[in-house]
Amino acid sequence: MQTQVVIIGGGPSGLLLAQLLHVRGIEAVVLERKTRDYVLGRIRAGVLERGIIALLQEAQVETRMATQGFAHHGTVISYDDQHFRIDFTDHTDHPVMVYGQTEVTRDLYDAREKTGGQTFFDVEEVQIHNTDLDGTARPRVTFTADGTSQDITCDYIAGCDGFHGVSRQSIPEDRRKTYEKVYPFGWLGILSETPPVHHELIYANAERGFALCSMRNDHLSRYYVQCPSDDDVADWSDDRFWSELAARIPPDFAARLQTGPSIEKSIAPLRSFVCEPMQYGRLFLCGDAAHIVPPTGAKGLNTAASDVHYLYRALWAHYLDDDSTKLATYSATALSRVWKAERFSWWMTSTLHRFPQMNAFDLRMQRAELEFLRSNTAAQAALAQNYVGLPY
Ligand code: APR
Ligand code: PHB
Repeated sequence: MQTQVVIIGGGPSGLLLAQLLHVRGIEAVVLERKTRDYVLGRIRAGVLERGIIALLQEAQVETRMATQGFAHHGTVISYDDQHFRIDFTDHTDHPVMVYGQTEVTRDLYDAREKTGGQTFFDVEEVQIHNTDLDGTARPRVTFTADGTSQDITCDYIAGCDGFHGVSRQSIPEDRRKTYEKVYPFGWLGILSETPPVHHELIYANAERGFALCSMRNDHLSRYYVQCPSDDDVADWSDDRFWSELAARIPPDFAARLQTGPSIEKSIAPLRSFVCEPMQYGRLFLCGDAAHIVPPTGAKGLNTAASDVHYLYRALWAHYLDDDSTKLATYSATALSRVWKAERFSWWMTSTLHRFPQMNAFDLRMQRAELEFLRSNTAAQAALAQNYVGLPY
């Protein structure tokens, strides 16, 4: 087979790129290891920056988001028993959109099917061939699907296959450097068919640890509590979760917390990770294939989207204006914004979580950080600008 772009990975990164390229008349083939339903079964974060909102509009898949998403103009930060609100719109003129990543992915799959673009599910043994540093040869991707071996020659490969994919590993080891920080705790998350405790998100730094109150809609709540990295979700009954959450949020919110059975409950580890560079010849990495953030700043999907923005614009310039300069500088351009998202996610995590080895001074530093944030307009503006999304 021949095509212009092979996209490895049918998650949000791969699908968003495929849809944007389609809108510009650029052909892409998507290879996904799992089934569509499996991909749509993943529970992920649900806060969209202004950048991905604009990209979804450009990809012509914004309809459901516009009608079923919820604009949030601020968030609550609490520590000990006090809390304060940071207003996004005051500082940035932009809200964020609360709309689940699962819904974004569903919208992208629905759009993909309408384009008639080729998507292979349940692919196995994906291998990348003919990539070299100066990108002279046309790369090839081989894989099996439905027991049949396939071989696609293409102009470019987009590695959108997540942290455990093959793309990053296909960059020779001596040509890549990785940066990693593993946090000494995880997040225990639940989904419950209960009304959210508050109409905006609550990020809580409490003596017993971090907690987050979020939502998917008016009758579907998403809550998290910090837990030891090696905790087993089987040890967390719903009752234990609810009492722990109530103990970590301010009493006036805890008093109106509506509990109910969890319909999803899982523990996720927290890490920061970046691979440099994000390209090798005609292979380009997007999203989790290149970087991971702790979920505290809700930057996972949103930073994948900024990578996709840069790669889509670079491919568009190449195919339609015969200008390959953006392709040549993709990695440097994407990494500049990736590192700012990594910093914000690391700062939110460091400021809001209780680390096992914190001493009395560390605790005072954390409190001073939060006191400064509560009392300083410039500090609140800086958080708001990062949260709604730095410019592309
Ligand atoms: N071949 C084909 N597909 C693969 C392979 C492979 N070898 N390895 C992984 N995949 C698929 C996975 O099944 C998954 O559907 O690639 C997709 C990668 O999707 P994500 O892991 O969701 O990564 P990305 O699309 O970059 O989206 C980032 O997803 O994980 C969250 O927190 C993350 O919100 C962020 C977003
Ligand atoms: C979520 O709703 O799942 C969510 C929201 C904000 C975060 C992380 C997760 O920072």
